[in-house]
Amino acid sequence: MDIRVVLFGAPGAGKGTQAERLVKDFGLMHLSTGDALRRAIREGTEMGLRAQAFMDRGDLVPDAVVIGIVKEALRGGGARNGFILDGFPRTTPQALELEAFLIEQGLPLTHVVSLEVGEEELVGRILGRRAQSKEGRADDDEKAIRLRFKAFAEQTLPLKRFYQDRGLLREINGARPVEQVYDAVRAAVLGK
Ligand code: AP5
Repeated sequence: MDIRVVLFGAPGAGKGTQAERLVKDFGLMHLSTGDALRRAIREGTEMGLRAQAFMDRGDLVPDAVVIGIVKEALRGGGARNGFILDGFPRTTPQALELEAFLIEQGLPLTHVVSLEVGEEELVGRILGRRAQSKEGRADDDEKAIRLRFKAFAEQTLPLKRFYQDRGLLREINGARPVEQVYDAVRAAVLGK
């Protein structure tokens, strides 16, 4: 069973939460561009230094940086057994590059699963995460959250149409308890 999926959704929609469950069930490779960038910042790499200011204020990191991360990860053998892309692509140039690259690798996407959650619920989740964690994410403050939503609405949301046109998009109500959302995500990636 081929599972090569993009988990799509606004900040706080539950992409990381659902990806963890898919990894457990199907042993897929999980690539979160946000996690990869945060790791690079912690390690003080040149890429991390370049990305940090964009991330902290809630802006998207330049396409060339994230495309580089994704291609490098997908070139490794692990992608052949299936993968989840979480938080990528986020712009039309990223989606076009990904599409060409995956065709070249013989690994086209099987589904794009969009987690649909209203903005009020999303803000509540992110502020809840900030209140719970000691160190926290620099971009979980209210000013950065607003910019993250703006970037999503202007640059990322148009990709739903892009994937709808390719017959890949599956929309799921993500404003339900985690396990209920997962049942729907699982069914979608299994093509049910
Ligand atoms: P990224 O790390 O991708 O963050 P994000 O998209 O803002 O999303 P989050 O991690 O906040 O949310 P999520 O959807 O994963 O939800 P989660 O499961 O964590 O990106 C961060 C930054 O990196 C970007 O702003 C940008 O600067 C840069 N970046 C990354 N990718 C890029 C790209 N491709 N191009 C350019 N720049 C890029 O859940 C959130 C919270 O809700 C948790 O507390 C969780 O426990 C809770 N929760 C989850 N599901 C439920 C549920 N069903 N009910 C109740 N609570 C729930």
